[in-house]
Amino acid sequence: MPERRPRLEGKVAIVVGAGSSGPGIGNGKATSLLFAREGASVLLVDSAIERANETLAMIEEEGGTAGVFEADVTRADDCQGMVKAAIDRYGRLDILVNIVGILELHSVVDVEEEAWDRLMEVNVKTVVLSSKFAIPRMIEGGGGSIINISSIAGVRAYNATPYTTSKAAVNGLTMSMANDHGRDNVRVNAIAPGAVYTPMVAGLLSDEQREKRRESSMLGTEGTGWDVGWAAVYLASEESRWVTGTVLTVDAGITGMVPRLL
Ligand SMILES: NC(=O)c1ccc[n+]([C@@H]2O[C@H](COP(=O)([O-])OP(=O)(O)OC[C@H]3O[C@@H](n4cnc5c(N)ncnc54)[C@H](O)[C@@H]3O)[C@@H](O)[C@H]2O)c1
Repeated sequence: MPERRPRLEGKVAIVVGAGSSGPGIGNGKATSLLFAREGASVLLVDSAIERANETLAMIEEEGGTAGVFEADVTRADDCQGMVKAAIDRYGRLDILVNIVGILELHSVVDVEEEAWDRLMEVNVKTVVLSSKFAIPRMIEGGGGSIINISSIAGVRAYNATPYTTSKAAVNGLTMSMANDHGRDNVRVNAIAPGAVYTPMVAGLLSDEQREKRRESSMLGTEGTGWDVGWAAVYLASEESRWVTGTVLTVDAGITGMVPRLL
């Protein structure tokens, strides 16, 4: 058997939302750790720098290469600075993962206008702004891979109308950006996680709700940030060189089911 080379050897990645909003491993932390294990140099971007520092400490303990950058990616200047920092530190940019996202459990009747605007800003505009500055630098380097973290809520009704709308927009953005930049060898894909158990949702769930989420899928097992992270490794690597404009569902099969009727 030939020796396995790290799947992201020599690549430079920006992970936006590289910390976790609570104790434990979220999608951003897992993705960052796996990228570093697979040989990438990773710029860990977060508006809460102490969260990015936690991820950095874990990567450094394992001997990986990473650095932190504080940015609020709802701001264009911060996005521009983040891309510049990656190029200044590591010389190129190959991979961008857009992970930041917030959840609002509202209908259109009860959502406040301010909450709606804020959610669209954090879940959709951040993808636009970070990609806007990353894509030209990727093109200069011969191409790249952008991975947007969507949700199964982007393709199925859920009791979170603003969130569902924002994730459907992320799916649309993904397809459209992929079409705009395919000939520049910039691939753009999304990951739609199902009910993964991460710090983002841990504080919202009772034990019964957590158990219901687990048992609702085809596999009947609980997903974690690592499941999302491995999907990101695939989409970031050359293994997916012919994959663009797609939404990769990582959900233990739940979007393939209807509620049990018989
Ligand atoms: N957990 C689930 O069940 C689930 C399911 C589907 C999709 N998702 C998606 O996964 C993503 C969240 O992943 P996570 O588990 O790592 O979340 P998380 O909340 O643990 O971490 C997100 C990080 O982003 C940072 N952040 C927030 N706003 C920012 C901004 N404006 N600029 C820079 N950084 C900012 C936070 O400080 C935090 O460290 C979201 O897009 C969410 O919609 C989660």
